[in-house]
Amino acid sequence: MFDKSRKAFPATKNGLFLAHCAISPLQQQAKESAMAFLEAMAAGGIRELPPFFNLLPKFRQKAGRLLHTDAANISSTHNTAEALCLIANGYPFVAGDEIISYVHEFPSNHYPWRLQEKKGVKLILLADSNPLQVKNCDGPLGWSMEELERSVTKRTRVVAISHVQFTNGYAADLQELGAFCKNRNIDLIVDAAQSLGSLPLYPAECNVAAVAVSGWKWLMGPFGTGLLYTSQELRDKVELTMAGPTCMQQGLEYLDHHWNPYSDGRMFEYSTQSWEHVAAMNGLLDGVFLKYSMEDIRREIFRLQDIFIHHLDQDLFRVLLYPDAHRSGILAIIPPIECDLLAARAARRGVVLTARYGFIRIAPHFYLRDEDMKKAAEILNREAGR
Ligand SMILES: Cc1ncc(COP(=O)(O)O)c(C=O)c1O
Repeated sequence: MFDKSRKAFPATKNGLFLAHCAISPLQQQAKESAMAFLEAMAAGGIRELPPFFNLLPKFRQKAGRLLHTDAANISSTHNTAEALCLIANGYPFVAGDEIISYVHEFPSNHYPWRLQEKKGVKLILLADSNPLQVKNCDGPLGWSMEELERSVTKRTRVVAISHVQFTNGYAADLQELGAFCKNRNIDLIVDAAQSLGSLPLYPAECNVAAVAVSGWKWLMGPFGTGLLYTSQELRDKVELTMAGPTCMQQGLEYLDHHWNPYSDGRMFEYSTQSWEHVAAMNGLLDGVFLKYSMEDIRREIFRLQDIFIHHLDQDLFRVLLYPDAHRSGILAIIPPIECDLLAARAARRGVVLTARYGFIRIAPHFYLRDEDMKKAAEILNREAGR
């Protein structure tokens, strides 16, 4: 049912790509849509712009469909850190408020919260727990709901956590976490850089207040694209900390300087965007993520991972296989030799994968084939065993 053809995914001719958690090959329709915009701009600049005026509204609609929410809750951004800074810096924190996060978050979901310490806000970091009871492993393994529960106080305002941890693929159970936060009147802010495009994510159904995403991983978009989901309730609380022409309702009336920002997602789109990037995002949403269901994409990714596991030499490798509610597109494995060495050897055999903190991350997207997974496992067995 999936179009896995070389025409749809030309990068498959260059080897076996298992690094969709890093920087993905640009999806074909994304590339074509961006090129069409660039060609028009090269031909005539502003004269050629009118047919593209609907790029941003279309993007918000399409991203809204993907997240099962209204277009009004979507903003176009450039990366995860920018989106989280817009939320964190504008959040009505007062001295003594508390934010809970996890000690091994990606920097984009750490520093925006650290900035709040200047206001006297306390950042509490959950320790690493070991949900799979992995022995003899120094790498990050996950965080626990029990510690989160113990860490909440009357002053907890925000829980800031990744949907999927970049190091090991440990996924938060957003249904459980969202219900937990709702009962305690805490805003749940989610970094979904490692999930959107590989796992279903419906923030309103899980009581998530904001979701920040990078576009070049599982969405296979251009480097420097992102999106932000915010609930209306969150936007009602958050002050603007970045402002310019495009977040104001007077739009092209550039000499009308009334303070009149939008109250929907456009409030965070402070100034000129990269329209070729927005065109690319529309292309990949049409070409892949609105064409197939996210449930089917997740199922296919897990199926491909299972084939890989089946062919992997379990005497050589340890596999971090979390229960389904905590499983993701990233399958972390612990090799018997140094990770960087194995990744370099695999690269020489045409297999692209990434190493992080003692783990090799196997991150296949749905368009890979069964034989690719078998081949990848066999190459790793051979390269780790010699
Ligand atoms: C969990 C997570 N968040 C965010 C990012 C990227 O952040 P940014 O979009 O700010 O570059 C990554 C990249 O590896 C990531 O793994």
